[in-house]
Amino acid sequence: MSDITIRLATLDDASQLAWLAAQLGYPTTEADMAWRLAELLQQANDAIWVATGGQGDVVAWMHLYVDRNLLTNPVAMVGGLVVDSAHRRQGIGRILMLHAEVWGRAHGCEAVYIKSNVTREGAREFYESLGYTVIKTQYALLKELE
Ligand SMILES: CC(C)(COP(=O)(O)OP(=O)(O)OC[C@H]1O[C@@H](n2cnc3c(N)ncnc32)[C@H](O)[C@@H]1OP(=O)(O)O)[C@@H](O)C(=O)NCCC(=O)NCCS
Repeated sequence: MSDITIRLATLDDASQLAWLAAQLGYPTTEADMAWRLAELLQQANDAIWVATGGQGDVVAWMHLYVDRNLLTNPVAMVGGLVVDSAHRRQGIGRILMLHAEVWGRAHGCEAVYIKSNVTREGAREFYESLGYTVIKTQYALLKELE
């Protein structure tokens, strides 16, 4: 953990973000990641943090955004979080989630919110170790648009 640095993502990180997205179960081309990243980097209500190792290589990323809706006051949503499989259990996820709390407060949020697939091994234990509580289970529904 000693050589880890946390910083905001830049467009140059697209290929490493795509590579890690595949580990999260979302295989993504570098081109697709690059245009998504370009869009999100322009949004004040989005932030993409990366953790880099000693060689400057990206070993983890986290996407945060402010979720504004009619039913709750704003919450900081974790849109995605992944630590490279070779760097897990070294405290990197914990550090990124602490950034989520700081960023959320700075953006007027009352809570940090995560939706995590029940099939993700160890994810629930990870979040619970940081003080998060499971508040519900729900269906995820999708309709492809033609
Ligand atoms: C879940 C994930 C982000 C955790 O990141 P990490 O850097 O490995 O976690 P940390 O080292 O900061 O762990 C902090 C604490 O969380 C708990 N924890 C982390 N991973 C755990 C696991 N697999 N099983 C049980 N507890 C776990 C432990 O209490 C750990 O402290 P310890 O190592 O001192 O015991 C990482 O495993 C990952 O990227 N997994 C694949 C993608 C994923 O599931 N992302 C979450 C999407 S919702």
